[in-house]
Amino acid sequence: MFFISSSLMPNVLVIIVIMVIVTGHCTNGCDESDGFLQSPRGNCFKAILEDNTHNWASAQSRCAREHLFLAQPGDNNATWLQLTLLNKYYGRTQLYWINGYIVNPPLYQWGDGQVVAADHPLWYPGDKGDGFPKEPVTSSGRCMVIDAWQNHIQHHPGRPYRTYECAEVFPVPLCQV
Ligand SMILES: *[C@@H]1O[C@H](CO)[C@@H](O)[C@H](O)[C@H]1NC(C)=O
Repeated sequence: MFFISSSLMPNVLVIIVIMVIVTGHCTNGCDESDGFLQSPRGNCFKAILEDNTHNWASAQSRCAREHLFLAQPGDNNATWLQLTLLNKYYGRTQLYWINGYIVNPPLYQWGDGQVVAADHPLWYPGDKGDGFPKEPVTSSGRCMVIDAWQNHIQHHPGRPYRTYECAEVFPVPLCQV
């Protein structure tokens, strides 16, 4: 027969509560020591800087390898993210793959099928899917990036969405939990 004596009960509860707090903390997967960036709202991102050998498609699998997804930054967190990437990784890299891609020029959509409106306020002025660098859409298509170039932020703060050739490997993967 299994039972817990009433005198032990409070101790058991305390231990359970402590375990929940401790494991909850460790498994939320957003520790800075593991390279994560956590916004004040608790949004959790991770840029993979160590190997910039990923085109857009392989950036997706790179995130999946860490049980993460290619990031989908939006109104809640994209501007915070852009500034954080600038402050943290300035001089190392400035372009980051995110989970949007062109379906039918100039129509972009997120991985979950949601459309990224052409007049979305986070687009860099003049890009809206057709140009960074300014080039025609090729067969590899164009995919979305966060642009954290200091110059661009200075000239157009709060406009982090840009696009890049999906087949290029210059941007690095930006993942989210
Ligand atoms: C950032 O915000 C967007 C909505 O604006 C949301 O879809 C996305 O999941 C958020 N990212 C994280 C890591 O919380």
